[in-house]
Amino acid sequence: MPAPAEAPAPVAAPPPVDLVNVQIDGVWHKFPKGTRMIEACKQAKKEVPHYCYHPKLSSPGNCRMCLVEMGMPPRPAPGTEPEKDEHGMPKIGWMPRPVIACANTVAEGMGIRTESVLTQECRKGVMEFLLINHPLDCPICDQAGECRLQEFSVEHGKGESRFREDKVKKPKNVDIGPRVRLDDERCIMCSRCIRFTAEIADEPVLGFTERGSFTTLAVHPGKRLEHNYSLNTVDICPVGALTSNDFRFQQRVWFLNETNSICTGCGRGCNMEISARGDTIYRQTPRDNNDVNSTWMCDSGRLDFHFVNSEFRLTDPMIKSGGKHQIATWKTALSNIATALAGKKGEEIAIIASARMTNEELFFVKHLAAQLGTTNVDVIPRTGGADNYLRADDLNPNTNGAKLILGIEPGAKLAEINELMSRGRLRVVLAL
Ligand code: SF4
Ligand code: SF4
Ligand code: FES
Repeated sequence: MPAPAEAPAPVAAPPPVDLVNVQIDGVWHKFPKGTRMIEACKQAKKEVPHYCYHPKLSSPGNCRMCLVEMGMPPRPAPGTEPEKDEHGMPKIGWMPRPVIACANTVAEGMGIRTESVLTQECRKGVMEFLLINHPLDCPICDQAGECRLQEFSVEHGKGESRFREDKVKKPKNVDIGPRVRLDDERCIMCSRCIRFTAEIADEPVLGFTERGSFTTLAVHPGKRLEHNYSLNTVDICPVGALTSNDFRFQQRVWFLNETNSICTGCGRGCNMEISARGDTIYRQTPRDNNDVNSTWMCDSGRLDFHFVNSEFRLTDPMIKSGGKHQIATWKTALSNIATALAGKKGEEIAIIASARMTNEELFFVKHLAAQLGTTNVDVIPRTGGADNYLRADDLNPNTNGAKLILGIEPGAKLAEINELMSRGRLRVVLAL
């Protein structure tokens, strides 16, 4: 009889959360103390437009797009009670100037207005400044369809330009790394890419040069944006300044269909979205999962899909005869395999499966091995991928599945199978 399972260790109760009352556009809500104003607004379904803010990066507060009106209850005169509103909450004294919602946190009794006239005028003003030197080349820009500058100019812009002078010219089509291209005229200086390389990828190769309207994003002299996480900068760039060499000009994004999936490039299993049109995959991008990959994925995993539509991919069974591979039908191929297996004893057969197989495929391998009566079953371990960030040392995505379903320790039987083969004891090897 199996020993009873040990009771799981009791989980410590989370510390109590200190909640504060915050009024957003006239409605009172409760948020944990320390919540950023922009996140509180988001939870209250009041999206505040923003460029430089990214929840996984530090908040420099440099784009000013997230300006909102803010107020606090005025301190009552000595000996008097604070004035109350119709909800019995302290009345808010509104500040005459706006504040940024990305770098400030909520406090007890705070009021936020995301739709007031002042807020809307601020957004209009910021958009006008951002568009002054922008080349407005949306028709030929690869970001069109998923560009925050385009979206916010429609939602919050003036709809026309008062700028009659010459726009500042900056470098275009700059090769800053093997996988990423930069168009400096489109850059709105949000600095997200700079912070990503410094704070997440731990390889700070990007920075700003020059000043004022001439500020230009560049790679540091002698450096390149070439680490294995470089394409995340393309995802977080809110405009078309950073584009992917692999994806640019391949498809307009509105033609793509997105499907949630998991990367099989290594044991990490980064959550991702596959964008395809018809039967062709055009790109893979990370999908948020704080327990697995946060908001990121590595370049090698993300670009590991071209084999799917490769003209060199085997799509038909082939039989080798006369030293050459010939295309055959599945019926012929399967019947050839059945003939090769017929009359063989279990110990004369070995199966090399793969820890890249799905659980369902491994389940069939297990049944096939039982049917053939062989215990010569293993998978090839592939290790050495760890990079101290996302990439796991184990480059097989389903080692656990292979262990649990086939009941093997990956690689443990390979030497024995090799030995049987070299002694001529094996008559059939099924490599899957
Ligand atoms: S390239 Fe994009 S992400 Fe980088 S600073 Fe410019 S706008 Fe921001
Ligand atoms: S870390 Fe692994 S699972 Fe994540 S994207 Fe890279 S190869 Fe894929
Ligand atoms: S998002 Fe707040 S200043 Fe940029």
